[in-house]
Amino acid sequence: MTLALSADRPEDIRKAGEILRGGGLVAIPTETVYGLAAAVFDPAAVARVFAAKGRPADNPLIVHVAEIVDIPKVCAQAPPIAPALAKRFWPGPLTLVMPRRDNVPDGVTAGLPTVAVRCPANDAARAVIRAAGVPLAAPSANRAGFPSPTTAAHVWNDMDGRVDAILDGGPCRWGVESTILDLTGPVPRLLRPGGVTRAQLEAVLGTVEVDPAVTGPVTEGHSPRAPGMKYRHYAPHAPIYLLHGPLNAAATYVKALARPGTAVLCFNGEQERFRPVPCVPYGDGDSPESLARGLFEALRKLDAPEIRCIYARCPEGDGLYEAVRNRLSRAAGFAVIEV
Ligand code: TXA
Ligand code: MG
Repeated sequence: MTLALSADRPEDIRKAGEILRGGGLVAIPTETVYGLAAAVFDPAAVARVFAAKGRPADNPLIVHVAEIVDIPKVCAQAPPIAPALAKRFWPGPLTLVMPRRDNVPDGVTAGLPTVAVRCPANDAARAVIRAAGVPLAAPSANRAGFPSPTTAAHVWNDMDGRVDAILDGGPCRWGVESTILDLTGPVPRLLRPGGVTRAQLEAVLGTVEVDPAVTGPVTEGHSPRAPGMKYRHYAPHAPIYLLHGPLNAAATYVKALARPGTAVLCFNGEQERFRPVPCVPYGDGDSPESLARGLFEALRKLDAPEIRCIYARCPEGDGLYEAVRNRLSRAAGFAVIEV
């Protein structure tokens, strides 16, 4: 039985803390996506997270702390730049990969010598961490391979009966997962783009390397710095093709090829142009915030048995557009059609 909890009720926050202290699993809202939380120092609880998600054991979890001062609870030696980054971007959608402390269970880090940590900018999330009394290991609260959940309804859909409680805190502000920055190499390296943009990081760090797994497929034999980047992710069952080119050309191309089962993931207001091909709009093409917030729900809608082939409008541009393009490209297996 999965318990329904509300972030608006202080007694529900306390209950969530109690469940976590007892080794249970609670799905919690964050400002990025919903997370599936377990007490970080409890290896059995951490193992249950992997089982509930169907997550491969070699894909490590992000540790969530309530305050910057909690970093040393899980990090052996924070790199010198870490406090400045935390001060500038925390609480917020930035995850830092740093050397781990030995007390962090191997399950959390998938045996890596590093640990990924962030402090979420969501009051309910931080209240639950405080109520639990320990940092929380939490991957996104979706079944492995599916889009991350951005509402409690998405979590119920994926996790009902598999977790002890789901804390409803409303829709997530960003809608895509945090930016991941690896601080363990000679130059800071972007492993996953998100709400904290590359330009914002460069303003603090000077140079930032971009991991090849951000912009292209992970090739056989290459192991990406963020193990999660090698897995198919964010994807409905039907194949997705990204349309590269102007709207006119995209509409002409799709209408010429459309068969029963073809659908289009488009920007708001473009449905008319693709008619009669069915469309799911995901946000305003000129607002990266809007596209980020709507993308995963739209991908969930497109995960329907009658849909056999999906063509997607994909934004260009940097900043948060980079995160939207990264998630869409991975959902599409980097399949692009020039129109
Ligand atoms: O916004 C977010 O980051 C959300 C919310 C819940 O905080 N969490 C999230 O977790 O997206 P998850 O598990 O879906 O993605 C974590 C990513 C994976 O790609 C994983 O491989 C990578 O972080 N990761 C975790 N620990 C790592 C480490 N020590 N070194 C490199 N990558 C790591
Ligand atoms: Mg995930």
